[in-house]
Amino acid sequence: MSTLVFDDVTVQYGHTTAVDGVSLTVPAGQVVGLVGESGSGKSTLARAAVGLAPMQGGRILLDGAPVPTRGRNRPLQMVFQDPYSSLDPRMSIGESVAEAMPRGASRAERRAEVERLLELVHLDPARAGVRPSEMSGGQRQRVALARALAGRPAVVIADEITSALDVSIQGAVLNLVRELQRELGLSMLFISHNLAVVRYVATHVAVMHHGRIVEEGPTAQVLATPDHDYTRELLAAVPGTKPQTGTPR
Ligand SMILES: Nc1ncnc2c1ncn2[C@@H]1O[C@H](COP(=O)(O)OP(=O)(O)OP(=O)(O)O)[C@@H](O)[C@H]1O
Ligand SMILES: [Mg+2]
Repeated sequence: MSTLVFDDVTVQYGHTTAVDGVSLTVPAGQVVGLVGESGSGKSTLARAAVGLAPMQGGRILLDGAPVPTRGRNRPLQMVFQDPYSSLDPRMSIGESVAEAMPRGASRAERRAEVERLLELVHLDPARAGVRPSEMSGGQRQRVALARALAGRPAVVIADEITSALDVSIQGAVLNLVRELQRELGLSMLFISHNLAVVRYVATHVAVMHHGRIVEEGPTAQVLATPDHDYTRELLAAVPGTKPQTGTPR
């Protein structure tokens, strides 16, 4: 796994500065939670990393080198909010996962790898032949994760991957993310507008507001002693948290 560095990244859409000089590091083997209200620029930052947003300035580096955004084996893999649209409805889930694997493997190797990946995300490999329409939202999101991992990514970017799911199954998907980080040493940028979700999976938290990172640090520290008023607002919306206020640092 690798370190992903955003260095002074700026993205503008016309007169809108969606991302405004953001510097952020996702250290190897860590999950960095990126939190902020709707429109704060989280997805735009993620899209910049995969070459889908127009960068007016800055650099995005993977282990010190610019991130390749073209070609087949892309080192950054994204998982999106909507598991209903991110999988091809005409393909079986096994085919979807196999499609994302590096070329060159034999049929038997591919089949074994699909089984391994489905097991990794706690899906029954015997169900490799089913279509996404036969699965629940949570199961589809597991397939989307397996598909992202099939590309052997250096870093996974997860953009609101639990937002479209029932609250009752969000926890299971979050547990899976934690497990994958622990077992695979996965580096991940985990995006959510919900600080309660982010704090559950992230080792580090960055808070985005109007295109800028206004606060970042180890999750426990940001939650216990938030520096920024906006972070305190986000925390106030999380049940069961009580940040210390006015703590001198
Ligand atoms: N393709 C685009 N064209 C024009 N403006 C855009 C485009 N994509 C994003 N924006 C604008 O950039 C800003 C940041 O949007 P972005 O989607 O990155 O926010 P976000 O933090 O991901 O929000 P959400 O939590 O709703 O997903 C917003 O003002 C948005 O309207
Ligand atoms: Mg978004």
